[in-house]
Amino acid sequence: MTGSILCVPPLSPLLRDEVGRRYDVLDLPVPDRDAFLAENVEALSEVVGIVCTNAGPVDAALVAALPRLGVIANHGVGYDNIDLDACRERGVVVSNTPDVLDAAVAETALGLLLATRRRLVEADRFVRAGRWADGEFPLTPQLSGSRVGILGLGRIGRTIADLLAAMGCVVSYHSRHEVPGTPYAYARSATELAAGVDNLVVVVPGGPATEALVDRPVLDALGPGGVLVNVARGSVVDQTALVEALEQGRLGAAGLDVLADEPHVPASLRELEQVVLLPHVGSATEETRAAMRRLTLDNLASWLDSGRLLTPVPELSS
Ligand code: NAP
Ligand code: 8YV
Repeated sequence: MTGSILCVPPLSPLLRDEVGRRYDVLDLPVPDRDAFLAENVEALSEVVGIVCTNAGPVDAALVAALPRLGVIANHGVGYDNIDLDACRERGVVVSNTPDVLDAAVAETALGLLLATRRRLVEADRFVRAGRWADGEFPLTPQLSGSRVGILGLGRIGRTIADLLAAMGCVVSYHSRHEVPGTPYAYARSATELAAGVDNLVVVVPGGPATEALVDRPVLDALGPGGVLVNVARGSVVDQTALVEALEQGRLGAAGLDVLADEPHVPASLRELEQVVLLPHVGSATEETRAAMRRLTLDNLASWLDSGRLLTPVPELSS
């Protein structure tokens, strides 16, 4: 290959090592990015591809700094970190990692539903604090048999829905389009969905179209007994409205794998007993991350060999 690959941080050491074993690599520094772009014009003119994750922004300025850039291989299914308009203008193609992470993210959502609805993390703290000897932990509502709304019945949403249906949950969903052939009831809006369920699982893509899709009216429709689980992007939930709803008892509990300003978590959220917080680990199993690395590198290799991607993002594939 003539040309190099730009690694946009953060990349896991496993992914960075695999890219480095196959290609000449340039690493974009985090704090001094703009100075690096200004001072390394020659090295940057050799870059033909980018490897990045959802936490590494690829904006118009970065695309503009790479005159030979042809491909961006995103290690993740969501690609709201990438400026697609800048890519389209320059003819840069983008791949992501669909399907291979559905099971891992679905089990994370299920774990958060169980942890919040059955108060499992609170119960653990109760035992560790030595409070068991003073009396029983309170009864909780059950997940099996409850009503669960899936906001975004795509690949992951459908996997979550099928797991919950096997547990006897009554599943309904909202996406912009009704999905033909599913056994699940369709709601015409996020608010209508929330009003008819006990638990709401959010699994739509991030970006401007879904910014604060889960807002105060949706949270109020879910109500004081309701549980919100977010495995999508922090941007999809109005985090200020969420904290207020929890503090004021207008929402029951929340399980969050993703947050508005990762990795920063406001004290107001950390202090709430009825909130379970995860550090964006939805896909973070050994098996799934290995499959995601493979697909990321296979996309890169395929583009370099034949000019074709295995899993292009739909917006840029003709
Ligand atoms: P997908 O198959 O494209 O499904 C997305 C679903 O969201 C579709 O049903 C889509 O249906 C719906 N949707 C899109 N925009 C919408 C809108 N404005 N309002 C309502 N529904 C909308 O994607 P996926 O593979 O399931 O992944 C979903 C997202 O999960 C990713 O984009 C990523 O942000 C997140 N994710 C998180 C983790 C994690 O670690 N926590 C891991 C993987 C993925 P319509 O087009 O009909 O609306
Ligand atoms: C990962 C994700 O955290 O696929 C996504 O959209 O958010 C997660 O799988 C991330 O992409 C790791 O690189």
